[in-house]
Amino acid sequence: MSLPAAPTASPSPMGKGTLSRQLVLRTTALVALVTVALSVFTALASFQILQQQLDARLESAIGRPTGRNPDSGDTGNQPGDLGGSGLIRIDAATINGVLKYQVSARPDSVDDATVVALLSLRPERDPVTVAVSGSGLYRVLIQQRVLNAATITTVVGLPYSEVTTPMSSQLIMAGLLTVGAVILSFVAARRVVETSLRPLTRLAATATQVSNLPLESGEGHVPIRVAPQDANPASEVGRVGLAFNHMLDNVENALAVRHRSETKVRQFVADASHELRNPLASIRGYAELTRRGSEALPEDAAHALGRIEAESERMSALVQDLLLLARLDSEPTLDLRATDVTEIVLNAVSDARAANSDHTWALDLPEDVVTARADAHRLHQVVANLLANARTHTPAGTHVNTALRAEDGWAVISVTDNGPGVPPEIRDSVFERFTRADASRVRRAGGSSTGLGLAIVSAVVHAHGGQVWLDCEPGRTTFAIRIPLA
Ligand SMILES: Nc1ncnc2c1ncn2[C@@H]1O[C@H](COP(=O)(O)OP(=O)(O)OP(=O)(O)O)[C@@H](O)[C@H]1O
Ligand SMILES: [Mg+2]
Repeated sequence: MSLPAAPTASPSPMGKGTLSRQLVLRTTALVALVTVALSVFTALASFQILQQQLDARLESAIGRPTGRNPDSGDTGNQPGDLGGSGLIRIDAATINGVLKYQVSARPDSVDDATVVALLSLRPERDPVTVAVSGSGLYRVLIQQRVLNAATITTVVGLPYSEVTTPMSSQLIMAGLLTVGAVILSFVAARRVVETSLRPLTRLAATATQVSNLPLESGEGHVPIRVAPQDANPASEVGRVGLAFNHMLDNVENALAVRHRSETKVRQFVADASHELRNPLASIRGYAELTRRGSEALPEDAAHALGRIEAESERMSALVQDLLLLARLDSEPTLDLRATDVTEIVLNAVSDARAANSDHTWALDLPEDVVTARADAHRLHQVVANLLANARTHTPAGTHVNTALRAEDGWAVISVTDNGPGVPPEIRDSVFERFTRADASRVRRAGGSSTGLGLAIVSAVVHAHGGQVWLDCEPGRTTFAIRIPLA
């Protein structure tokens, strides 16, 4: 059985899916959105203003007041300032269907055809934007009036670049500013988020530490708490830290209560087992005495006495097992010293061989003597229990192989048989107390099974600082233990 792997290192603050990353990215996106919106809005406003200024200059160039009210009077309006370079001004008159015009200002690129084209445009009250061949876009204002049977047309135009040039530099500027704002907000948000989430990171580290504590055994003391500066109820994270500390207090209390009641139960089992030994010995003794008595007993009484003896013997063994388990639970009183494991395995297998000739018993020992730090008596009991299982839970003719080897600082003992295997439903709990195959199966096997044998194996091996495990494949059941070498 293995514990779920606890997270070892906390993820990096900007790691994928972390809260910091989300906060930073969202803040940056928001800043980018606002900056872009502002730039667009400002650009539109500047465009409006620049175009209005250009139009006002056209109005003044044509000699019309810039108030935008339709001005019917045509006298007294002098052409205003002609503006910067690039101005076009054409004055034309159509008298009796004949067009005559005079160009008072034009850039070199404007040819006669363009002039005629400009004159053919429909007059509008407001300036319009037109493409002038060779000179790009122009903002043009056309005025027409009738004077003494002659139609007088005045066209003034100014290059539209007076709007587009400042607009493009403004757009470039806005773009640069947007990029700068995004970078700045990313850096700032990252710093702020990292600083504000640092207590949370520390909290996570504490939680990880707690999750790695071995709480399943012992008094359940939890020596770790969130530091006071991270358990300050003034902040959200502080409240989590405070709640976490309360939870740890609670857990510690609960574990202490559990430990106390477990100790009581263990003590009770130990006392009860101890107290049961004497009356059991008396029962056995009296039964034996009666059977050996001079008078021949009736057959059924003799049978009953035999049963009393057998059952009280079984019960003594059970009481002894319980006492041993209770002792190993409270304070393992093992006599640990450098012990020759090879000899123990050898003896246990010869005992098994002597006790049972239905099975074949093989032994696989290394050439060198294996010495481990062990309690010889208890280790013998462990191997004997494994061999007893290989004998009692398998049919006659089963081959049992016992192997010993030393590897990586461990003495490994394994008992393998080719019997039917451990029933799947008890495989996971086979080392727990009172786990055994269902009763009918045990009865069929004719055994007196208690389900404590492997629990003792496990408790003794763990008290040695070792491990036990089961490998079950069809036709091959291996119980193995390992304890540290001396
Ligand atoms: N080698 C094996 N092959 C098949 N089943 C096994 C083997 N060893 C153990 N088992 C199963 O595991 C159960 C638990 O074994 P355990 O030694 O703990 O108890 P037990 O042998 O039933 O009783 P006890 O050993 O206390 O007399 C057994 O009842 C049996 O069903
Ligand atoms: Mg057993």
